[in-house]
Amino acid sequence: MYSFCFHVPTRIWFGKDTVSHLSEMRQSGTKALLVYGGGSIKRSGLYDRVLAVLSDAGISVTELAGVEPNPRIETVRKGVQLCRDGRIDMVLAVGGGSTIDCAKVVAAGAKYDGDAWDLVLDGSKIQAALPIYTVLTLSATGSEMDKFAVISDMTKNEKWGTAADCLKPTMSVLDPTLTYTVSKKQTAAGTADMMSHTMENYFTRETGADVQQGFAEVILRTAIKYGPIALAQPDNYDARANLMWAASHAINGLVSEGSANAWCIHPMEHELSAFYDITHGQGLAILTPAWMEYVLSDNTKGMFAKFGRNVFGIDPLHQEDDLAVAKKGIAALRTFFFETMEMPANLRAVGITEKSKFDIMAEKAAKGSVGSYVPLTKNDIKAIYEKAF
Ligand code: NZQ
Ligand code: ZN
Repeated sequence: MYSFCFHVPTRIWFGKDTVSHLSEMRQSGTKALLVYGGGSIKRSGLYDRVLAVLSDAGISVTELAGVEPNPRIETVRKGVQLCRDGRIDMVLAVGGGSTIDCAKVVAAGAKYDGDAWDLVLDGSKIQAALPIYTVLTLSATGSEMDKFAVISDMTKNEKWGTAADCLKPTMSVLDPTLTYTVSKKQTAAGTADMMSHTMENYFTRETGADVQQGFAEVILRTAIKYGPIALAQPDNYDARANLMWAASHAINGLVSEGSANAWCIHPMEHELSAFYDITHGQGLAILTPAWMEYVLSDNTKGMFAKFGRNVFGIDPLHQEDDLAVAKKGIAALRTFFFETMEMPANLRAVGITEKSKFDIMAEKAAKGSVGSYVPLTKNDIKAIYEKAF
């Protein structure tokens, strides 16, 4: 286990009706930028509830509405302008990861003397941000408790993640009942996303980090247990609550600090989204088993066998050899994503019907994944895209 600093300053209010705690935003001032997506919060009534709490607390609101899934830099720029014009004190994101990510870069852009895209390309330029508050409505990205934000410029087919400690939210409201209205598609994609964050950290060359490995296995087993329950019973509180808490811990440093290598599935998926605007979690689900099969070897079979045994409960008596258990573990993941969670199983199924961009996508993803569990060249990544096609 290598040395690390672990610091999550986000105050979490978890449970039913915790939206009332937004009154605590008063500690950061009286003028908020309310950031939200395409309207799900209006349909659910959450928008009215949030406005009522803020009004009672004496907080005035300026709105940035219409944040896109795979949020665009143009929307971030609009938000920055609103913050500057309105002398805004803090941002409040109400929605999924896209809304929160957009709000984070708006918060940093408001404190930056230049174009917000600079901050997406280079996180070291993020020196300060307005206080960030969130009300999470979709369990997936972990943005509610982490330092990352992912923004796209579709005019250039670019989608990049940035990070800074000051992007960690001041406070996040996690009310599982707010996720009852999430569609089957997004519930499955969110489950795949939290699992991918965990697996990106779990498959590592680092040894001796038993605590992190154990946390990762619990998160994976939780997602595997409750993802299907949430699909079948969207208003099952325990399913939604466990998925929500698992997602927050998958990427807040708990399973990565001291243990993880660079990620590789995410850089590969971000290229799919950048060129084809697909749903992040669906892309991850398609790529992950293809990557596992591609990198399975004598060097990696022990790690994949551990995954099969400890996550899927294969070979409980340790009677089979590692390669056989590794293959069964990967097959179990395929079954979970593509049958149990009813997700699209290949790139064609999400509308990617030609391979002409694989070359440029692989080149960019190879740069983004330097230092991952198994080093991948551009040609390796192209082969994984082909396998996933
Ligand atoms: O826009 P609205 O109308 O709110 O609808 C959204 C959107 O259409 C809908 N939705 C959200 N909550 C809902 C709901 N519908 C009904 N009921 C609710 N309670 O779901 C759709 C997808 O929302 P989105 O925010 O795009 O999903 P997600 O949370 O999966 O975020 C995906 C984005 O986060 C990035 C991804 O790349 C992608 O851009 N990521 C961010 C990370 C981070 N900040 O740490 C890490 C991740 O790896 C990821 O890259
Ligand atoms: Zn992700």
